[in-house]
Parts: sequence; structure tokens; C-alpha cells
Amino acid sequence: MTGPAHLDSPERRRLHSPSLVIVETIVTTVGEDGSVNCAPMGVEWADAFIVIKPFIDTVTYVNVSMTRSAVVNLTDDVRVFARAAVSNPGVSTRPAEIVRGFVLSDCCSWREVEVRSIDRDPPRARIETEVVHRGFRREFIGFNRARHAVLEAAIHATRLHLLEREYVEAEFERLQVVVDKTAGPAEREAMALLRDHVQRATRAVEFE
Ligand SMILES: Cc1cc2nc3c(=O)[nH]c(=O)nc-3n(C[C@H](O)[C@H](O)[C@H](O)COP(=O)(O)O)c2cc1C
Repeated sequence: MTGPAHLDSPERRRLHSPSLVIVETIVTTVGEDGSVNCAPMGVEWADAFIVIKPFIDTVTYVNVSMTRSAVVNLTDDVRVFARAAVSNPGVSTRPAEIVRGFVLSDCCSWREVEVRSIDRDPPRARIETEVVHRGFRREFIGFNRARHAVLEAAIHATRLHLLEREYVEAEFERLQVVVDKTAGPAEREAMALLRDHVQRATRAVEFE
């Protein structure tokens, strides 16, 4: 299956309420053993509630199902998206104010949410949550093409098992041009990390 077909699948259309914008966030959750999990998630955003839509094979789904809570972090540091897309990075956090969870220490702002309902229909759950607390740490420094390009590259990096190699390589070439034009050091570092991850994954497949 190629990228564009997958991104526009009937499943995706069914799950997205067109009246709500999707915001790219870092969702932090807590596991049974108390460990913090950090994952990029595009969530449906409204002021008083947020819909999280994790695939049911993700740690985020397992943790939110168990604790019935999460922290939805907003950050303009795309290195966190890149790192969390390819691993569970050991980022600095501090305890949430209300829910069982953790806030990214360097986020711009955050929402603490409690689960109100879970639709567990595979492959992707739909978890409706209510915002029970919100906090602000620093200004979100606005739109940037390189940041957007890194987010797209990070999504591809999490879907290597679904996408054709030629498609991923072409996309990385295209997105790298945008990064080269408009990135600062953080965006360049994030893109390099993703490129490295994709190259390693491709080499691993070749040696199988
Ligand atoms: C910008 C961005 C948005 C993403 N949105 C989602 C999402 O809404 N649902 C999902 O299951 N995965 C999403 N992913 C992929 C997950 O972040 C990825 O599968 C991650 O490894 C899941 O982590 P976890 O198993 O630790 O929860 C997204 C990735 C990126 C880079």
C-alpha cells in the first residue's frame, strides 16, 4: 500500500470528526509499573474535550485504558516528536497536577484529561476525554515549514511497515529541501535523527 492511499483510507475518514481540527501533540501516559510513556499523537482538539485515537497495539492505548487518564502536551520542539516517534525517549517530566500522569518539563502548555468513553473498535481506538486541568509554561513559537516537514517525516518513520520504500525515500528527499531552507539547529537535528532511523530500518530489511 502506498502512503497517500493509506493516509486517505476509509478508516481514517470514518474516525475523524470533520468539525474538529487535529492538533499534533505529545501524549504522556503511565504504565502499570509507573513508567512514563511519551508518544506523538494527532488528537481531535476542542476546548473542553480532546479525542485521542491510538492504534490498539500502542503503549498509549494500553496505558490510557488502564489509568483512564493522560497528559496532552503542546511543544514547538520537534526533536521530541522525532525521538518519541522512533523510541520512548527519556525526557524530563514532572507530576501532573490533577490526573495520574506526567507533564513534559519543557512543553509550552498542557492539558490533563480524564477518559469519558472508549470505542475499542480495531485497528484504532477512539478515546473521548474531558479536560480537567490545563497549564502554561512558555510561549509557543509559531508556524515554520521545517517543523511541519519534520512532523511529516516522523509520521512516515512510524509507518515504515505500511509504506513502500521508494515512497519514503522520495518523501524524505522532498522534506529535506524544506528543512534545509527554513530549519534552525533543533529541526536539523530532528530530521537527521529520523533519516538515520529510516536508513537503519531499511538496512535491517535488506539483511533479513
Ligand atoms: C505527528 C504524529 C502523529 C501521530 N498520531 C498518531 C495517532 O493519532 N494515533 C496513533 O496510534 N499513532 C500516531 N502516531 C504514531 C505513534 O506516535 C507511534 O506509533 C508511536 O510509536 C506509538 O507509541 P506508543 O506505542 O509508545 O504509544 C503519530 C506519529 C506522529 C509523528
